[in-house]
Amino acid sequence: METVVVNEVGPRDGLQNESAQVTPGDRAELIRRLVATGIPAVEVASFVSPKAVPKMAGADEVVAALDLDAADFSALVPNMKGYEMARAAGARAVAVVLSATDTMNRKNINMDLTTTLRVCSEILEQARRDGISGRAYVSVAVTCPFEGRVPEFRVLDLTRRMFAAGAFEVTIADTIGAANPSQVKELFTALVEEFGARRLAAHFHDTRALALANAWQALECGIRKFDSSIGGLGGCPFAPGAAGNLATEDLVSLLHQAGFHTGIDLEALLEVVTHVRSLVGHDVGGRTLPWLRSRHAAA
Ligand code: COA
Ligand code: ZN
Repeated sequence: METVVVNEVGPRDGLQNESAQVTPGDRAELIRRLVATGIPAVEVASFVSPKAVPKMAGADEVVAALDLDAADFSALVPNMKGYEMARAAGARAVAVVLSATDTMNRKNINMDLTTTLRVCSEILEQARRDGISGRAYVSVAVTCPFEGRVPEFRVLDLTRRMFAAGAFEVTIADTIGAANPSQVKELFTALVEEFGARRLAAHFHDTRALALANAWQALECGIRKFDSSIGGLGGCPFAPGAAGNLATEDLVSLLHQAGFHTGIDLEALLEVVTHVRSLVGHDVGGRTLPWLRSRHAAA
């Protein structure tokens, strides 16, 4: 049975966009519950300005509260200051964020594309010297909410540069959920051809109800690592139109039905969805949830 790695991003991409302020202690508890279901990797926090993203305040407390041997934990860092804070907190893996367009970088992290490229490269180089794993996102990789369709050659070029700077993995992100499976096929075919599937991961949002279809398409292109978010939480506060992420329960359900191994206990995941609802104070859940719950009740 082939294994697919799920990188849970709900504690970061999900909670950053919620109106509820979830405390660092509750975020660490959520991460522990996620790991207890068998999830192997979690993006636990972002070391960003609390003025820009108040919901991520206390990222250092989240990292400090975790058993770092329990899973592959990473933290998002937007600049060198964030990197240094993550390192000081004890993070063993970081993710830098490079948006594929100039405007998106400015809106997200107040730097133009050229500066962001330099900063991301410097962080990846420093991480390598520090023995910290460095991963890179190439976000708005298909469509930018400000500049529209992103040319494929640009995504290939930025990915190439992130690997050259020392990224061990590049995650290609459809940040606003505007991609369709034929675009995914074209982009990931080109990416896999140049970089190989093993160093790439995919990140989809479900804005147009195509996240699962896009994940399937990336899987067909050979991708075996996906970001997803428990209960389908998510969105980027700086990217208009970004709705929830691909829900972890939808992804895992798809993968198990198609015969892939994830190591994740889907029944246990459903209980975490209920827990998330109590944290954020509203209904959450992927599109497969009603079916999963009825199957659970019948068993
Ligand atoms: N973490 C915490 N604080 C930070 C920081 C970081 N990584 N980087 C800068 N700051 C602080 C500075 O110390 C300064 O604080 P002060 O006002 O108390 O002096 C303030 O933020 C402004 O610093 P500056 O370097 O001028 O940053 P900026 O205003 O240009 O904002 C970012 C740049 C990157 C800090 C900000 O845009 C940000 O945090 N963006 C995150 C976006 C995000 O998380 N998007 C979703 C995930 S992709
Ligand atoms: Zn996202």
